[in-house]
Amino acid sequence: MSVFDLSVTDALLSTTRAVRKRLDLERAVPDEIIRDCLELSMQAPTGSNKQGWRWIVVTDAGKRESLAEIYRKGADTYLQDGYQEAKAAGAAQDVRVYESARYLSDRLEEVPVHVIPCIEMHADPADNPELWWPSLMGSILPAVWSFQLALRARGLGSTLTTLHLNCAEEAAALLGIPDNIKQVGLLPVAYTKGTDFKPAKRRPLDEALHWNGW
Ligand SMILES: Cc1cc2nc3c(=O)[nH]c(=O)nc-3n(C[C@H](O)[C@H](O)[C@H](O)COP(=O)(O)O)c2cc1C
Repeated sequence: MSVFDLSVTDALLSTTRAVRKRLDLERAVPDEIIRDCLELSMQAPTGSNKQGWRWIVVTDAGKRESLAEIYRKGADTYLQDGYQEAKAAGAAQDVRVYESARYLSDRLEEVPVHVIPCIEMHADPADNPELWWPSLMGSILPAVWSFQLALRARGLGSTLTTLHLNCAEEAAALLGIPDNIKQVGLLPVAYTKGTDFKPAKRRPLDEALHWNGW
C-alpha cells in the first residue's frame, strides 16, 4: 500500500519541466502563491540544519528589466555557440532546448516574477572544498526543486536558470545582496499556458546506474 496516491506524486515528479515558451506573460501572479510555494520549499533539508536559504522575489518592472539585461549579457554568447554546435551535430533535442532558452532570454523582463534563490555562506571554501561545494549547493537546490514542484501543482511554471551568474556581481549590486550571500540562479515564474506537460525523454537508467560499485 502506498502512503500517497502514486499516480499524483509520480505525475508531479515526472512532468515538472523547464517551462519557457508556455509561460503566460499576461496573467498576474498573486504574491500569496509565491509565499505559499516558498514556505513549502523550506521543508527541504539543509546541511547541519543551517537553513541558510534566502529568496529574492522581484516583481518590480524596472528591476526585472535590469535583470533581463544582465541575464542576456551573461547568456548571449553561450546560447549562440550552443545553438550552432547543436545544429551542426544534428542534435534535435538540444536545438529545441537552445531555441527555447533564447525565447526566454529575449523576453525575460516580461515574466511577471523573478525569484533569485540564494544561500548564506558559513565556512571558508578553502578549508575543505570537497565538502564545501556539495554542502552549500545541497542546502539550496533541493529547496529550489521543491519550489518548482509546488508551483507546478498550482498551475505555475518556472525554469532554473544560471546564466545571469556570469554577471552575478551586477545582479548583487542591483538588488543589494551582501557579500556572504551566494546567488545560485534565477527562476522566471508565471502561470503556464495549459498544464498538460509530459515526461521528458531521458537516457536509460542503466547507463547511469552503478550498483555496489562503479
Ligand atoms: C544547473 C542548471 C542550470 C540551468 N541553466 C539554465 C539557464 O541558464 N537557462 C535556461 O534557459 N535553462 C537552464 N536550465 C534548464 C535546462 O536547460 C533544463 O532543465 C533541461 O533542458 C531539461 O529540461 P526539462 O527538465 O524540461 O526536460 C538549467 C538547468 C539546471 C539544472
